[in-house]
Amino acid sequence: MAENTSKDNLPVSERVNNRSLRPNSSTFKEFMTQGWQAETPQASPLESSKYTPARLLKLSQAFPGERLVIPAGVAKVRNNDCDFRFRPDTTFAYYTGLGEDYEPGAVLVLDPQEQASSTGMLHQPILFVHARYDYHTPEFFRSASYGEYWTGARPGIAEFGVMTGLESRDVRELASLLAKNVGSEAHDVKLRVVKEADPQVTELVESIRVHAGFTDHATNQAADDELHQFAAEARMFKDEWEISEMDSAIHATRHGFDNILRHLDKAEGKENGERILEAAFDSISRIEGNDVGYGTIVASGDDAPTLHWMRNTHAVQSQDMLLIDAGIESKGLYTADITRTFPVSGKFSPVQRKLYEAVYKAQLAGFEAVHIGGTYSDIHHACMRSLCESLAEWGVLPVSVEEALSPEGQQHRRWHACGVAHHLGLDVHDCAEARFSEYQGGTFKPGMIFTIEPGLYFRRNDLLVPEEFRGIGIRIEDDVLITEDGPVWMSKKYLPSAPDDVEAWMAEQRKLAGQDVD
Ligand code: GLY
Ligand code: MN
Ligand code: MN
Repeated sequence: MAENTSKDNLPVSERVNNRSLRPNSSTFKEFMTQGWQAETPQASPLESSKYTPARLLKLSQAFPGERLVIPAGVAKVRNNDCDFRFRPDTTFAYYTGLGEDYEPGAVLVLDPQEQASSTGMLHQPILFVHARYDYHTPEFFRSASYGEYWTGARPGIAEFGVMTGLESRDVRELASLLAKNVGSEAHDVKLRVVKEADPQVTELVESIRVHAGFTDHATNQAADDELHQFAAEARMFKDEWEISEMDSAIHATRHGFDNILRHLDKAEGKENGERILEAAFDSISRIEGNDVGYGTIVASGDDAPTLHWMRNTHAVQSQDMLLIDAGIESKGLYTADITRTFPVSGKFSPVQRKLYEAVYKAQLAGFEAVHIGGTYSDIHHACMRSLCESLAEWGVLPVSVEEALSPEGQQHRRWHACGVAHHLGLDVHDCAEARFSEYQGGTFKPGMIFTIEPGLYFRRNDLLVPEEFRGIGIRIEDDVLITEDGPVWMSKKYLPSAPDDVEAWMAEQRKLAGQDVD
């Protein structure tokens, strides 16, 4: 049969190469392994490698005698053979200290040891990674995912060892290590995996467990969830390096907002003005950081009360208030989460200023309520009381402040349905797998970083508010660190938020962009 016809019998999923006539002769394959000058990637220890040993020690001591499996995950398919940019799983990034796009298919294993190390470690951490597929190997040309012909030189086993300070091995040795001595006798090893990260590794772990007699999937999954939960609760307390990553993410975010303000005149009156501003922010995220930490929200005018507005397809008009919720993720993968609301014209109208000042006041009240030993509900109640008082003063609240604040009331939540604070770090909604008792019920301690983000959201068709409020949404969101001396605003030093300061910031950026300022 002619090759053209025989290839039609390939399954549809294998037809991606129909677009290319790949050379496949043994002569060609041999030819491709010769005549290249050797290149060795440079590697040096990452700053994070000074901090991961303390994180690993706590993890090790929490799970004595168990083998812990923490995969980086694999790239998600965008369509057929095109993937989304890879971002490692958060638990993997936390315990290896690897950021950027390191490393698809890698797996960190904490292998239990008979004897504790001198530092108290009960496990040997081992990082399994793909070897370099350089020109010596057939994969150099044949592997589109790891071959250096396609991907460029990437760190290999030795390089990842230097970068992370961890013992590193070839990922092809993973399966045999995972299965070693797994069983249900007292001296046997039990396995736990961060099961959300890499379906193939999760399947492998589960098949080893089932083979060893652990046949109850629900029990196995509950054990896995405990590992994930432990990691999320450990991440609530940021070390010095994490705090510096957060600081640089916030600083870069300031530059992203600056770029938005410099492009405001190019967006104003344009049909796709919100997209112009999104692009202005996101471009800085790739220049100064790894990426954006979440989809940038650019909500002008009556888009702002739509809390998850991310289509950013609408116009930006001079009379609008413009709500931007955006955060740059550092190269170490820590993200800022900042919202500012601007008058597009550069000057708040009297109504805009009145509403803005109410939100600003509520945020300050939330911050005043934060203290070591306090809880998230302190922030919530302080912000809600302040907002209720403003709504009552404007005659909008249909009941008294006390009645609205009671559990049976809550009428004010019509204009503020979302949460007012959350942990922040490697994930924008960080530590999500933590227990309720440790998250909402946990008390503030040094090292915690979280947002305070009150707002007021008046939908354009809300007949219960004055007409002049309709179609305005305002949020002010900042990032707070708890220190031994109490809470500090991490973001206010970089991004102004008092109304006069916002106007001055807008004028300054317009001037720097060479635009006329009245
Ligand atoms: N940007 C998501 C949030 O503020 O929670
Ligand atoms: Mn937030
Ligand atoms: Mn936000």
